[in-house]
This record gives sequence, C-alpha cells and structure tokens, in this order.
Amino acid sequence: LEEDTLRQINEAADEAALEAVRLSALGKKGAISALLSTLGKMSPEERKTEGAKINALKDKATEALAARRAELAEAALEARLKAETLDVTLPPAASPLERGRIHPISQVMDELSVIFADMGFAVAEGPDIESDDYNFTKLNFPEGHPAREMQDTFFLAPEAGEKKLLRTHTSPVQVRTMLSQKPPIRVICPGRVYRCDFDQTHTPMFHQVEGLVIDQSTHMGHLKWVLEEFLKSFFEVKGVKLRMRPSFFPFTEPSMEVDVQCRRQGGEIRFGEGDDWMEILGCGMVHPNVLRNCGHDPDVYQGFAFGVGIDRLAMLKYGMSDLRAFFDADTRWLTHYGFRP
Ligand code: PHE
Repeated sequence: LEEDTLRQINEAADEAALEAVRLSALGKKGAISALLSTLGKMSPEERKTEGAKINALKDKATEALAARRAELAEAALEARLKAETLDVTLPPAASPLERGRIHPISQVMDELSVIFADMGFAVAEGPDIESDDYNFTKLNFPEGHPAREMQDTFFLAPEAGEKKLLRTHTSPVQVRTMLSQKPPIRVICPGRVYRCDFDQTHTPMFHQVEGLVIDQSTHMGHLKWVLEEFLKSFFEVKGVKLRMRPSFFPFTEPSMEVDVQCRRQGGEIRFGEGDDWMEILGCGMVHPNVLRNCGHDPDVYQGFAFGVGIDRLAMLKYGMSDLRAFFDADTRWLTHYGFRP
C-alpha cells in the first residue's frame, strides 16, 4: 500500500489528479483511513505496534502530498511565466496621455494669494461682465471723462437699461467689496480683465491683482510697506527699493506709479539689486469720492489701493518675453519655462 500510494502521488499530473489520490488514501473512505479504523478491534499490544506503523504511513503520505503539491504549483508558475513574456521594447499601442501642467498665471495667482494671506489679506472676486457704474462711475470717472476712453473698453449691449462691459481692470471689485463689507477691509482681487489691444506685450484679455485696505488710520507708509514686502517675497530677494512717481487715476488721490529696483544684464533682469528701475504697478490713497460712493465716510475711513499686472509679474519672474504665448495653450512652452505637473 505504501509503495502504491507514494507512486500514485508522484505520478499525479496535476492538482485535480493529486486531490483524487489524496481522497483514495486519506479521505473518509480512503485506504489508509480504512486501516486506521481497524485499530479499534485490535488487542492493546497489536494496537501499539500496528498503530505506529499505520500512523507512520499516514505521515509519509501527507508529506509526499504536500511535496508534490508544491512541485505542481512551481511547474504551473513556470509555465505561466513562459507563456506571458512581454516585449518591453515594443512601442505602446496608444501614445500615453499628455499630462496637464500648472499654468504660470495660475501659479503666480497662487503665489500672490499666499504672500498676501500672510499679511492678513483675504481674496475677493467679481464678475468679468461688469456694469459701467462699477467699472467707471463709482470709481470717480466722471461721465464723458477722457479716462473712460483711455481704457479701450469692450462695451456690451445694455441689459435691462444698464450699461454693460467687460471689466477693464480689477478695480470694480474694490467697489463691490466696499459696498458689502465694513472696515477694516484687507483684500486682494485677482482676475481677468479686458482691453481692446494686441501686440507682443498686450493681449485683449489679461490678468490683474487689485489690493485694497480700508481702515481708520491707514496711510501711505502702510502702502509702501505692503508693496515692499510683497515684491520682496514674490521675487525671492532680501530686499527691494521702490521709487514712487506721481501719476493719475480717477479713483486714487494722490496716485502713484511704482518702479522697482533692478539690474539689467544682457537680456536678464534681476530684482533687489543694481540701479535700474522698472515700472511695476499703479497705486494710491482711495479717493474720498469713491469711499462716499460706496457708503463710507471719508472723514472716518481712508485707505489705499494698488493694481498689478499678473502676466507681467509672471514674465519678469520666469523670464518670458512674449505675452501672447501665455494664451497659445502649447504645453512645450510651459515645459520650456520649467512648469512641470
Ligand atoms: N486700475 C488701475 C489700472 O488698471 C490700476 C490701479 C489700481 C491704480 C488701484 C491705482 C489703484 O491701471
């Protein structure tokens, strides 16, 4: 029986055959099980010697079964590996999906939000389609004032008798914020703006970030500090010098244009060093008429505002030369300037 059983085990060609052998030897009705059941009728002496033999047989069979099972599994794996060879040098069936990349504008907007959040500014937003009232009138542009024509406005058909346009700057968000919040106000408003203009440095749609602070004792020193901190963090330099030149905006008084210290070397510009200047933004103290138009008493509250071109900031920081490429949706351009997923 022993020889027979072991031979059958070793000859089993697959798992199923092996299981059949196991049942015929060790199953309930198997040959070895039958031998074991004869022990009950034996005398104690016989049981001792026969029992030991039968149990040894049972152990041998169990061991042989396990060994054969492992052999068969190994062989099955071997066969699968042979059948499933993969030629990794073949070209892929379909080209892999292009992965999206963060756009420099989005990146700069995120950078700005973080820098200003550290100074306690919240983010405010307004619609791209704006009323003439918020884009101009409440911002102290008088009716028929030439400054309205200076902004190359895209006018839309009036809606319910109200004049509509594509906002020419983010300053109407100042109006929306002042109309809906009580001072102290500290917000930045990043977003798209539109002007009818197109060349290497102008696109009909571009991006600005507006800053607005309104409180009871806000002054130009605060404005200067905020701008310095912002430019320092944004250009990742130890310090920057600013130069403020008098300018004009209907909604600020006094109004200033701000130049930032830089060094021009060949085509490169470095900030925070050298003695060249680059114009970077417009700003000023919020005009009393604007405060009044938005429901705040200019004898109690004052504040400052500034507006910066985001696209220009991105070009300066990442060394891009043509604004139009920002909106060409060419991922090779993004990769070239180091914008990775
Ligand atoms: N809105 C102005 C522009 O688009 C910039 C600006 C904003 C100036 C806030 C002063 C204060 O040119």
